[in-house]
Amino acid sequence: MFNSIHTACAAAVVLALAAPATVLAAQDAGHAQSPGAAKQGKYIERGRYLVRITGCNDCHTPGYAMKAGKVPEKDWLTGEQLGWRGPWGTTYAANLRLSMNAMGEEDWIKTAKTMQARPPMPWFALHDMEKEDLRAIYRFVKHLGPAGKPAPAWLPPGSVPAGPAIQFPMPPK
Ligand code: HEC
Repeated sequence: MFNSIHTACAAAVVLALAAPATVLAAQDAGHAQSPGAAKQGKYIERGRYLVRITGCNDCHTPGYAMKAGKVPEKDWLTGEQLGWRGPWGTTYAANLRLSMNAMGEEDWIKTAKTMQARPPMPWFALHDMEKEDLRAIYRFVKHLGPAGKPAPAWLPPGSVPAGPAIQFPMPPK
């Protein structure tokens, strides 16, 4: 983890150093952003908005609903230690900061359009999202960068979770 953060930082430094002098000069002079940077900024802003309103934070950000959304952005989508236990076993909302940052943009869009997961992940809602919205979420998560540790692994039905879990009723016999 630390290694990959390091690598990412190092890469950012190299990129910054490699930026053409003209670009840096334009920034120094306080000129408007390039059209590409402005477009990227719009994607990131939309991604932030979608993550807030479409529920991703509610499950994938520790304590988000309990704190009425007052969780610093740096901790968003880092995965949950609280389990959801039902007939499907026990699931944990994944650390999307790790999984999405390890994926390319097109891979993410393909995954989001086709993936299935266990309850209560609303994977069908990802299928219904516009590609541009999925792209915006991806770019926002990329902008946040990797953070946190992986959420606990899924447990099959019958296994007892070590930590806290919300128990759903079993289906009628
Ligand atoms: C009601 C809770 C809930 C909501 C809302 C929710 N998720 Fe999930 N999500 C989960 C759980 C639980 C899992 C793990 C499912 C499993 O183990 O099969 C999961 C798994 C995933 C996975 C697959 C695991 C991974 O590491 O990639 C992705 C991708 C994902 N969620 C993205 C999202 C996005 C994007 C949103 C917002 C649009 C969202 N989720 C909203 C609970 C939720």
